[in-house]
Amino acid sequence: MHPSRHRYDVLVVGGGIIGLVTAWRAAQRRLRTAVADPAPGGGAAHVAAGMLAAVTELQYGEQTLLDLNLASARRYPSFAAELEDATGLGLGYRRCGTLAVALDADDRADLRELHAFQESLGLRSEWLSGRECRRLEPMLAPGVRGGLRVDGDHQVDPRRLAAALLRAAELAGVALHRSSVARIETVRDRATGAVLDDGTVLAAEQTVLAAGSRSGVLPGVPEHALPPVRPVKGQILRLRIPPGYAPFLSRTVRAVVRGGHVYLVPRENGELVVGATSEELGWDTTVTAGGVYELLRDAHELVPGLTELPLVETLAGLRPGSPDNAPLLGRSALPGLLLATGHHRNGVLLTPVTGDIMAELLTTGSVPESARPFSPARFTLQEQPA
Ligand code: GLY
Repeated sequence: MHPSRHRYDVLVVGGGIIGLVTAWRAAQRRLRTAVADPAPGGGAAHVAAGMLAAVTELQYGEQTLLDLNLASARRYPSFAAELEDATGLGLGYRRCGTLAVALDADDRADLRELHAFQESLGLRSEWLSGRECRRLEPMLAPGVRGGLRVDGDHQVDPRRLAAALLRAAELAGVALHRSSVARIETVRDRATGAVLDDGTVLAAEQTVLAAGSRSGVLPGVPEHALPPVRPVKGQILRLRIPPGYAPFLSRTVRAVVRGGHVYLVPRENGELVVGATSEELGWDTTVTAGGVYELLRDAHELVPGLTELPLVETLAGLRPGSPDNAPLLGRSALPGLLLATGHHRNGVLLTPVTGDIMAELLTTGSVPESARPFSPARFTLQEQPA
C-alpha cells in the first residue's frame, strides 16, 4: 500500500484560531487550502479567556505591538459580523469594556503611571476613584483604591470563535487532515509540504507554520528557520453564575496582585473566567493546587463574593511566547515556509489582523506595511563583518 498523497496551494500546519483564520482567508481567495491538526479548533484558544485587552495589557516598550493590537481590535466588529454571517454561529463578542483596579497604595501608584503612559499615547482610559469603581461594579471589594475605566477593551468567547472559524474554513472548502504532522518536507532547501503521522503526504506550494507553542520544535524545519517560540503556561478557572443570581460583574475586571495578573471575564451565558498564571515550565500543563489557590486568592481579594460560585473547570494551556512578546508573521528563512505564530498573550485579539496579513502574503508575496515590524527576520542573526 502506498501512502496517500494530496496537493494544495497552501498547507497550514496547526488548526488553532491562527491556523484556521489563515486557512479561511486563503480559501476565500481561491487558494486550494488544507489544515493539518489532530484536533482542529482546539489549542490555546480552548483555554484562553478571550479578553481583547489592547489598552489594559499595554506594556512599556511594546508600542509597536500596541499598533497591531489596536488595528485588530478595530477589525473585530466587522470580522465578528462576517464570521457570524458566514456560519450562523455566535462568537460571544461582547462590547463590555474593562475596569483595571488597584488594591493598595503601590498598585494605585503603578496604575496611575500606566494611565499617564496610556494618555501620552493618545489611548482612551479614564481614572476613577475607589468609590466610582464600586458604583460601576458593586461586587468589588470595599478596599479598592481606584481604577482605570477602559471602555474600548472588550471580549470574545475563544471556544465559540474557534468553532466558528472551523465551520467557516470547512464551508470555504478547506480540507481538514485530522492528524499530527510528523515532519515538514523539504526538497533542495525549500519546504514542499508535510508528512503526517499516518504517512499521508501533503504537498503544497506554500506551507504556513501556525502550530502555536509547538512551532519552535516542528521536525523537519532546519535549525536556522525554526521560530524562537516557547511554551508559556497559563492556568485558568471557570466559575458559573447560577441563573437568577444577582448581577455579578458587567465588564471585565482585572488587577495586578503581588506582581501577577488576575482577571475576571464575565460572559453573557453566566460563565465567569478567572485567569491566569504565567509560568515558564516547558511543556507542563498540570493544573496545580498552588495555581488554583493563587488565582482564587487574588480573585477573592478583588471580588469577595465569588467564593459562593460553583467552580466548574480548571485548565492549563500553553501560550506561544516569543522573545519580544510579539508575533512572527511572514517568511521564514526556509523558502516556501511562512510563519504565523508567537502571538503569546494576544492570539485571540490578533486573530482578525493575522488573517488579513497572511492572506495578503499568500496571494501577493508580501505583507502590508503595518506588518513589517513583525517579520521573523528580526530574530535572524546577522553576519558580523570581519
Ligand atoms: N491575555 C491574557 C493572558 O495571556 O493571560
